[in-house]
Amino acid sequence: MKKTPQWIAAAVLCGASLAAHAQVSQVRVWAAACANCHGTEGRAEPGMASLAGKTDIAQQMLDFKSGRKPATLMHQIAKGYSDEQIQQIAAYFAALKK
Ligand code: HEC
Repeated sequence: MKKTPQWIAAAVLCGASLAAHAQVSQVRVWAAACANCHGTEGRAEPGMASLAGKTDIAQQMLDFKSGRKPATLMHQIAKGYSDEQIQQIAAYFAALKK
């Protein structure tokens, strides 16, 4: 069996990190859509739920999406995202400092 040349391994690794970077930027764009109401970086004004450091966002969004959880606005908003996008947005906010 031929050994993989080193440059191929390097190119593959490089491509993977570019893809990871593109994914992070995409999540930030989705998360920015929450900032108007839930605050910059998920830190809300008093009276509004903050999202930063919250670990149950994915479940709440899925419950909004299915209508299980009562809401005025979040039903509409949650329906705008796939379950996969919701998982990524939730992980993004969970990792932010409160
Ligand atoms: C237009 C304003 C608005 C935007 C934009 C918005 N939200 Fe909300 N969010 C609300 C309101 C209002 C509630 C309270 C429930 C309701 O009445 O819909 C809420 C509640 C929530 C809750 C439940 C909080 C809790 O502790 O009960 C989560 C989680 C949430 N939003 C996540 C998000 C995410 C993630 C986004 C962006 C994808 C987002 N929201 C965008 C207005 C907004």
